[in-house]
Amino acid sequence: MSEALSNLLREDRRFPPPAELAAAANVTKETYAEADADRIAFWEKQARRLHWDREWDEALDWSKAPFAKWFVGGRINAAYNCLDRHVEAGNGDKVAYHWEGEPGDTRTITYAELLREVSRAANALTELGVRAGDRVAIYMPMIPETVVAMLACARLGAPHTVVFGGFSASALRDRIQDCDARIVITSDGGYRRGAPSALKPQVDQALTECPDVRNVLVVKRTDQDVEWTEGRDLWWHEAVDKQSDQHTAEFFDAEQPLYVMYTSGTTGKPKGILHTTGGYLTQVAWTHWAVFDAKPDDIYWTAADIGWVTGHSYIVYGPLANGVTSVMYEGTPDTPHRGRWWELIAKYGVSILYCAPTAIRTFMKWGEDIPADFDLSSLRVLGSVGEPINPEAYVWYRTYIGGGRTPVVDTWWQTETGGMMITPLPGVADGKPGAAMTPLPGISAEVVDDAGNAVPNGAGGYLVLTEPWPAMLRTLWGDDQRYVDTYWSRFEGRYFAGDGAKKDDDGDIWLLGRVDDVMNVSGHRLSTTEIESALVSHPNVAEAAVVGATDPTTGQAVVAFVILRGSAAASGEQAAKELRNHVAAEIGPIAKPRQILVVEELPKTRSGKIMRRLLRDVAENRELGDVTTLTDSSVMELIRTNLSTPGAADDD
Ligand code: WT7
Repeated sequence: MSEALSNLLREDRRFPPPAELAAAANVTKETYAEADADRIAFWEKQARRLHWDREWDEALDWSKAPFAKWFVGGRINAAYNCLDRHVEAGNGDKVAYHWEGEPGDTRTITYAELLREVSRAANALTELGVRAGDRVAIYMPMIPETVVAMLACARLGAPHTVVFGGFSASALRDRIQDCDARIVITSDGGYRRGAPSALKPQVDQALTECPDVRNVLVVKRTDQDVEWTEGRDLWWHEAVDKQSDQHTAEFFDAEQPLYVMYTSGTTGKPKGILHTTGGYLTQVAWTHWAVFDAKPDDIYWTAADIGWVTGHSYIVYGPLANGVTSVMYEGTPDTPHRGRWWELIAKYGVSILYCAPTAIRTFMKWGEDIPADFDLSSLRVLGSVGEPINPEAYVWYRTYIGGGRTPVVDTWWQTETGGMMITPLPGVADGKPGAAMTPLPGISAEVVDDAGNAVPNGAGGYLVLTEPWPAMLRTLWGDDQRYVDTYWSRFEGRYFAGDGAKKDDDGDIWLLGRVDDVMNVSGHRLSTTEIESALVSHPNVAEAAVVGATDPTTGQAVVAFVILRGSAAASGEQAAKELRNHVAAEIGPIAKPRQILVVEELPKTRSGKIMRRLLRDVAENRELGDVTTLTDSSVMELIRTNLSTPGAADDD
């Protein structure tokens, strides 16, 4: 079979950029030509938007590919770029963060205040023996001290590894051990869904198997009781508040490790993605400025957790490097009510919102009446990240959140890429619902077939990156060989992203889901994303997940799990039949699901990605796989007990 991935779904809606935005846009069409003419010179120019203590001798050393060095010989400090230079330029009184706790408590932190707090924390860490190159683990809720801790590490050249606060003690233990962190920064807890949620007990448990950890710094947030290990545990306010608020940043080599971020591999041990300083900061600062068209008076909000790469690049390093004012919110979108996000947007006058399709689909399910009660007129650019955004979700987002005026930028990137890679620019491209569009200036991507040849427009295949980029991962922590094997072996000399993609008739790129999830039906390779998008385009469907289950005649057959919208939920068998026909009409009979299972919830990872592997087990009636990374493991029980509900029947 020659085709890598079929191209089925059609989408013809187009949304040109608002004239005013286009006229004043930070980046125009010419920038693509400029970068095409000399990619390296283009990135050097963007690197000069930062402060370097010493400029580099060579922009890119790719002689030991796939191990890259960017801005060789340059000296830089990430925290200095995020804080000191703005204060020195007279912008110390500008707000860095409007922070909002879930219970409604707030803190407004200026750049000058953040610099003083980071300086104190850097002095405290120094007193605890942290030196450049030492790893520090951070296991925190969404509070300002999390940002302070990260920047204090960056200031000292000590790579941080932030572990998402929702992870278990064993996940924390594995990460601390893998990067050999000797200091852990945590808090008593944080607020989630209206109640304090403890963190310190997980740290205590993890550390029973991490004998090399010397100290645990504990931020007091919830006032929960905590176990205390004398000599090891220290209150943050006692260790940090007494320090001097002056600290002179040291400049480090451009390739100084900035952080290690763990991401789950398909099997086994998590991969420690290593990001370094100069190239990373260059790309996240430039992409934040370019893709969101960020202006000095924007109020910017990435509604993600700092424990993911999205938070690292677009809550912390990108916005701060650009001196922008951000909103940061501790809690969940439905606490104390389902309009919390919209209330915050109205309160702070948020002009740029960046979030994930899973959140958008949840809001769709809750209904457009909820955002309609709030003044969202301050919004001017919307962003999406983390999964393909279905055309229906894109149009809903633009219409009901963006008031029908705001561009939506669908940004494709990965923990590994460090920063955005494929996305429209809001003042340049006509928005196409569902398309990530084109590689950014300075980025080179291609869609290839099994043999590694570029596919023509209109065809599908594998997404590869064909040139090194500044924010690329440098290796996997402690495992160079796994780095080479995982990313650089499938297609010679090119980075394999693991995603399926297609080029439409204009050559624009659409992401089609992870290739591990691709289905093979009668020799046709079908994308999960396209069939899910077709399902979500039906007015009765709120959310859908599609998997390929073994089938005696077709090899694999399409099985769809759908969540119906409130009003449609009772309609049963008839609804399932209608949906199967709808998919056939939208993308063709080959994609028609064999079964449609109506469910209440879908199993998702903590970062909101659907766990299709588990659904495949259910669809094939296998025993359940490992569910420990599920947001709610009861979801799977729910799905199993509902297997015989209306819609499960194979009606023709
Ligand atoms: C994977 C990377 C990027 C930061 C958050 C996720 C999927 C991400 C998109 C998008 C289609 C997307 C891909 C990618 N993905 N953004 N705009 N359209 N798919 O980082 O956890 O490392 O996941 O997320 O499958 O490979 P991550």
